[in-house]
Amino acid sequence: MSRRNHRPEVGSEWLGVRRLRPARPIFRFPDVIYRLIFWLVLQRMDAERAHALASRALAFIHGPLRLGGCLGVALRPRDPGLHIKALGHTFRSPLGAAAGVDKCASWFESLGALGFGFVEVGTITGRPQEANPRPRVARLLRERGLVNRLGFPNPGAEEASRRLARRTGALVVGANVGRSRETALGGASDDYRRTVRGLAANSDYLVLNVSSPNTPGLAALQEVGLLRQLVGAVRAELQALDLVVPTLLKIGPDLSDTEIDDIADLALELKLDGIVATNTTLSRDGVTLGAGSGFLLSGGISGRPLQRRALEVLERLYARAGNDLVLVSVGGIETAEDAWERVLAGATLLEAYTAFVYGGPLWPRSINAGLSRKLRASGAPSLQSLVGAGASARSRPAFA
Ligand SMILES: Cc1cc2nc3c(=O)[nH]c(=O)nc-3n(C[C@H](O)[C@H](O)[C@H](O)COP(=O)(O)O)c2cc1C
Repeated sequence: MSRRNHRPEVGSEWLGVRRLRPARPIFRFPDVIYRLIFWLVLQRMDAERAHALASRALAFIHGPLRLGGCLGVALRPRDPGLHIKALGHTFRSPLGAAAGVDKCASWFESLGALGFGFVEVGTITGRPQEANPRPRVARLLRERGLVNRLGFPNPGAEEASRRLARRTGALVVGANVGRSRETALGGASDDYRRTVRGLAANSDYLVLNVSSPNTPGLAALQEVGLLRQLVGAVRAELQALDLVVPTLLKIGPDLSDTEIDDIADLALELKLDGIVATNTTLSRDGVTLGAGSGFLLSGGISGRPLQRRALEVLERLYARAGNDLVLVSVGGIETAEDAWERVLAGATLLEAYTAFVYGGPLWPRSINAGLSRKLRASGAPSLQSLVGAGASARSRPAFA
């Protein structure tokens, strides 16, 4: 499935990180209002309550008020140059809402109307689950990050699947699948298999989450032997269901470089469809934790503090797998420049959570608009033709 990349002239503006023109005035006004609301109201509110409030407001606008169509017309990306064909689907933008934004599969259509090209719902487990006890989410304002130890609160695979089945539009919606809290490491494969049984028929793709730091022992599943077993079990389930659903792994940023290479090699050997990288980090580099922030010590950090490592992991994966895996880059993407850089480094798709929290409802639109401008300036025919165009050629593994 090797694609030829369009490589504009070296030294032309396409690789440069240029300041983007400001958004058109009609979109600047609500953006300024959101910033004002954020600084005056939302940042004083508990982060989790603010998220719940925003999601309910948007679901209300989309549902009972029936204004989702208007939102979609105003904010949905329409530049065909941003379309991405991957995983058997056409994504209208490479930018998706990361797992955790819509944990319960309850507002993915509103997220699509805001301009996200796809949504990864979940993490979903076999049975419904409550969140970890509070406090469990906090903002790191100075670092433009979040720290969370939410766990996987979700309505369970069957209910999530019913919600996914009710969708109407063409939005691509994947399901992120995780291990239930009460399942021991030894029972993980059967547990994922049960969850996949409930979800697969209504998911456009599946992501096996083996990297959330907030479910004890989950990250141990990144060990190659256990991963092989897990993928085998999920494959057997899909076969029993007679379904072909693209399957990806979601990995963490705290793995060593060798572990990342081993996972890329395994994904190629097992002919997995792709890798989502990365989940939140346990590293506290560059992060100042204030007094009384005891719970922050155990949570996963997202946003700007994760940016550099997420890019490094992407570069490593692309050097190993090239275009033979669909690489979904997530972690600290804040600006159109960041998004552009990730595509050039080898990401076919992008996801974000934290920058959306800080940037507000118009943030996806501004990233899409920025990518369109950069694409036009580059002269390339499509964003997809640029995937990996900035990556340095390195050795490829035997499986490629
Ligand atoms: C509050 C919160 C909840 C999250 N929940 C999940 C989750 O349920 N499953 C998962 O795979 N990742 C989850 N993530 C991780 C994100 O999907 C993403 O990998 C990470 O936040 C890095 O992206 P960002 O820097 O754009 O936020 C969560 C992140 C945050 C901030």
